[in-house]
Amino acid sequence: PRGPVRLALQADLLDFPLAPALEDTSAQAARWRPDHWLLVEDGRIAAVLPPDQAPGADWAPHDHRGQLLLPGFIDTHVHCPQLDVIASHGTSLLDWLETYTFPAERRFADPAVARAGADLFVQALLAHGTTAAVVFPTVHAVAAEALFAAAQRQGMRLIAGKVLMDRHAPEGLRDDVDGARADCERLIARWHGQGRNAYAVTVRFAPTSTPAQLAMAGALMRDHPGLYMQTHVAENTDEVRWVAELFPQARSYLDVYRRAGLLCERAVLAHGIWLDDADRALLRDTGAQIAFCPSSNLFLGSGLFDWAAAQRQGVPVSLASDVGGGTSLSMQRTLLDAYKVQALRGVRLSAWAALHAATQGAAQALGLDQEVGLLEPGRLADVVAWRWADGPVAEHRDAVARGQVPGLPVQSLHARVFAWLTLSGEHNRLATWVAGRRV
Ligand code: GUN
Ligand code: ZN
Repeated sequence: PRGPVRLALQADLLDFPLAPALEDTSAQAARWRPDHWLLVEDGRIAAVLPPDQAPGADWAPHDHRGQLLLPGFIDTHVHCPQLDVIASHGTSLLDWLETYTFPAERRFADPAVARAGADLFVQALLAHGTTAAVVFPTVHAVAAEALFAAAQRQGMRLIAGKVLMDRHAPEGLRDDVDGARADCERLIARWHGQGRNAYAVTVRFAPTSTPAQLAMAGALMRDHPGLYMQTHVAENTDEVRWVAELFPQARSYLDVYRRAGLLCERAVLAHGIWLDDADRALLRDTGAQIAFCPSSNLFLGSGLFDWAAAQRQGVPVSLASDVGGGTSLSMQRTLLDAYKVQALRGVRLSAWAALHAATQGAAQALGLDQEVGLLEPGRLADVVAWRWADGPVAEHRDAVARGQVPGLPVQSLHARVFAWLTLSGEHNRLATWVAGRRV
């Protein structure tokens, strides 16, 4: 029989055991281990060794010196079927849903479309250096099924669930309470806890579910402890007004979900731009978290998320592409958009805070920090090797940061990594490992 699979990756290791303040650029806020060895045994990180302690002959060496090795990114809100509508011109949220998104999502009723779409999507995540994701498929059980199966084939961490929507959506994109409950029960039994899949009760957003369906979703959460919940909240002002009309008893948009019993530690709510202090207190008290989607928020013109207020009030925040409202699956592009959104609010987001939120911060918020998020013994080896620079401009900029351009002083590690984050994308990716397997 074959012995254990043992890899030794040598690279510039960077990860974030501490949660940096939003503007913290200090060296202590990051863990930087240049040229170190990451030892991986049977999919898990076994040890990290300094450069001069090369491991023995029973470890297969992989020379990634001069490359940046990060924990795989975690995208906490993204839509599988919306690769069909990414980069669609000219609308804000509610028009965008009607004009582009709903028509495209109807195609996923066809199992062949759902399978091809799921495969394309999962491959694309990995090609962008994202090794874990919280994902919306469509209302069709077959689309959820295809997504779980595609993730399982790659061995990647996926949180997803059939989308619930029983009103205010076109024919072919609506379910009903009893059918939806039966689909959810079947999918939970089949996929929750299978491999690295977990089930999320997936209310699209308050307007597309009747109160009866919201109550059913809450009952699922009560009946199956350990499920996740994902939805959208307070993204767009027209949407917020519509929710107030549809749910006059609720104190706020977020309160609709509280009343249905949907807020808990494993609840991931996308956007949360138009929340008030009472909403943020409710998020903190229930342990629910916000997926900040800066690319989508800029592209659809939704607004500028107040990350500082969330941090002040103790609300966990992770980062998400929200493709196809967002315009790229790349977490570097997403984090750069987060930097720009926060700059418009007067906050200069550090690369450390941004990268932490996209790795260890998200892992903690999702309760996955024993599994992923850090380059640390015991974690699964979901890791990505990145080129420090791609193309002449980035190469020059990186040389400046390293003090290799005459007349300019060497810069801090933060300055170098911030320039990398700003100038890089999926083209910088050299290799992705999922649980120690190169994919
Ligand atoms: N709100 C309800 N559905 C959606 C969606 O698909 N994308 C975004 N960005 N917001 C939504
Ligand atoms: Zn979304």
